[in-house]
Amino acid sequence: LPAISASLVVTADRMLDVSSGKLINNAVVVIDENTISQAGSANDVTFDSSDRVIRLGDATLLPGLMDMHVHLTSDAATHGYKRLGVSVPRATLKGVKHAKDTLRAGFTTVRNVGAPGFADVALKEAINAGEITGPRMFVAGPSLGVTGGHCDNNLLPFEYNQKSDGVADGPWEIRKAVRRNIKYGADLIKFCATGGVLSKGTKVGAQQYTLEEMQALVQEVHLRGLTVATHAHGTAGIKAAIRAGVDSVEHASLLDDEAISLAVENNTYLSMDIYVTEYILSEGKAAGILEESLAKERKVGKAQRESFKNAVESGVKMVFGSDAGVYPHGDNPRQFARMVEFGMTPVQAIRAATINAATLLKQQDKLGSIEKGKLADIIAVPGNPLQDIKAIESVSLVIKNGEVIKQPAASR
Ligand code: ARG
Repeated sequence: LPAISASLVVTADRMLDVSSGKLINNAVVVIDENTISQAGSANDVTFDSSDRVIRLGDATLLPGLMDMHVHLTSDAATHGYKRLGVSVPRATLKGVKHAKDTLRAGFTTVRNVGAPGFADVALKEAINAGEITGPRMFVAGPSLGVTGGHCDNNLLPFEYNQKSDGVADGPWEIRKAVRRNIKYGADLIKFCATGGVLSKGTKVGAQQYTLEEMQALVQEVHLRGLTVATHAHGTAGIKAAIRAGVDSVEHASLLDDEAISLAVENNTYLSMDIYVTEYILSEGKAAGILEESLAKERKVGKAQRESFKNAVESGVKMVFGSDAGVYPHGDNPRQFARMVEFGMTPVQAIRAATINAATLLKQQDKLGSIEKGKLADIIAVPGNPLQDIKAIESVSLVIKNGEVIKQPAASR
């Protein structure tokens, strides 16, 4: 007799079709192993009485959420000089908890854009081996950057000889650093094109790396078939990075019209972390964020929200990127309400965190929507998130790769 394995079936009052932006009523999704085998309204879907059924009632099914900017090995309570006391092994262990918190909040996929010591590679391997619970991870390893830049660590004086793993100056040192990151398991490369808020002694508006260096970096990465994410707040650095061909600009705080047009022309994705400013300004001091960083944040946060509005109006491609790790892992969904407040429709905000992110990752055949043949990464939120986007802050069901990670007690 052939072995008949039962399907997993989820029913809910609504399901979002992210491509059309329409809700499907009386939704049913059938999952076999790790794949969606049917999805639609109850009339169009058939399943067996012996299948395992999760009935959600007044809830909306969404594709698993995807955050394109996290640091799972970073702890939001430990910034600035406090962080110098955290070893890479300790940070990795913190990452185990952060990975679980992130997945349970509804994020079934993340892009980890920078981790010392390739801790992100270790975390990803442990998740994929089924040893720990966490989202699908696409990882960058250590971020590349100039000596003394945002991707270096500038907290200690000269005699300590401190330098971050990703420091590389000049085209050939940069190419070698790219090759090394790929050797040790990077899925993408992250570099710093400008100064930043949380780094000591850097200016957010100032470009880091020359255009020549950025071009060498991007060419080397693309040759190898990977993508490039760049940290960039300042206008000049954003434009240089887009001209050099990066795939996504992170933060993108100080956008002018030319920068937005360049992004549109070059199909560059913007990943704008517009919630984190609230955490930095309210909790940052206690967490160890330096006063100079708080001062930078007071300016950048506001400007970034203006830029976000303009970017949304222009129709440029956007993905959801939170910078969780600066703020607590699991609070990622708080950014959705800000994205809506600053110009997106709820559907646009959800697309940024699903189908757009899947496309940036070149995983649109497998991820990003609830469709037959795609991997079974599905979440549910109470009520209707198109009417109240805050519903997405209370994810009630999480299925990753066909495995139920979280479900409401009443549906058991
Ligand atoms: N990691 C980023 C930096 O240090 C955080 C910026 C957060 N602020 C913001 N408004 N997005 O530059």
